[in-house]
Amino acid sequence: MNLPPVIAIDGPTASGKGTVASLVAEKLGFHYLDSGALYRLVALGSQKASIDPKNGPELGILATNLVISFKNGQILLNSEDVTEVIRTESIGLRASAIAVHPEVRQALVGVQHSFRTIPGLVADGRDMASVIFPDAVLKVFLTATAEARAERRYKQLIAKGISVKLADLLHDLQERDARDSSRGTAPLLVAEGAKVLETSELSIDQAVKTVLDWYQSKAA
Ligand code: CDP
Ligand code: CDP
Repeated sequence: MNLPPVIAIDGPTASGKGTVASLVAEKLGFHYLDSGALYRLVALGSQKASIDPKNGPELGILATNLVISFKNGQILLNSEDVTEVIRTESIGLRASAIAVHPEVRQALVGVQHSFRTIPGLVADGRDMASVIFPDAVLKVFLTATAEARAERRYKQLIAKGISVKLADLLHDLQERDARDSSRGTAPLLVAEGAKVLETSELSIDQAVKTVLDWYQSKAA
């Protein structure tokens, strides 16, 4: 049986994965999976339940039992709207801490696979191409310099009225990059066969067009 096609877009924090992946999905009429949101949900759930971020087995049980739903752009955790709450930098850092545990990663495999439905899926994260969808028709590793990414995140937060220091953001982002790239299970890496897209000097439109062109040439 032929499974619907997947475009896997991985990369470090604030490389533009979410923005580019959701626009590519919209252009193609595909579904979109923001896998980072799942790790952020586990991070939030574990904070609420006061579970130690080092306790893999307990976090795995929590991740298995979380009631999550994605509806009309809203993300619900146990029926509560947490769309905005999960986007804070502190939840991002906690997400990268809990994401090192194989028990947590294993608990989230099924829900990620369930997004792969007709006519196709664009999935973004850290291990979309290497672990979750190794048969993706197109694998993209999106990246940009740490400075460009910190600057992007800074503008994003300032636009939301959240006051932050650029130097703190750069520090947190480098801490998260280091942990995501060095963990034993499903580290952030350029998967075999992935195309690298350096976006420091690219607009969002240019990045989206490049991914669409690559997809058309694969699909042709
Ligand atoms: O999902 P990820 O953390 O990789 O990044 P994002 O939230 O999609 O993008 C971070 C910010 O960078 C957003 O405000 C995007 O609009 C911006 N961005 C950009 O300025 N230029 C790009 N080529 C891509 C994203
Ligand atoms: O938007 P940003 O790139 O800052 O983060 P995210 O994609 O929402 O992911 C938050 C954290 O979850 C990352 O720092 C990773 O540690 C983890 N994550 C992961 O391990 N595997 C994924 N497929 C997606 C996210």
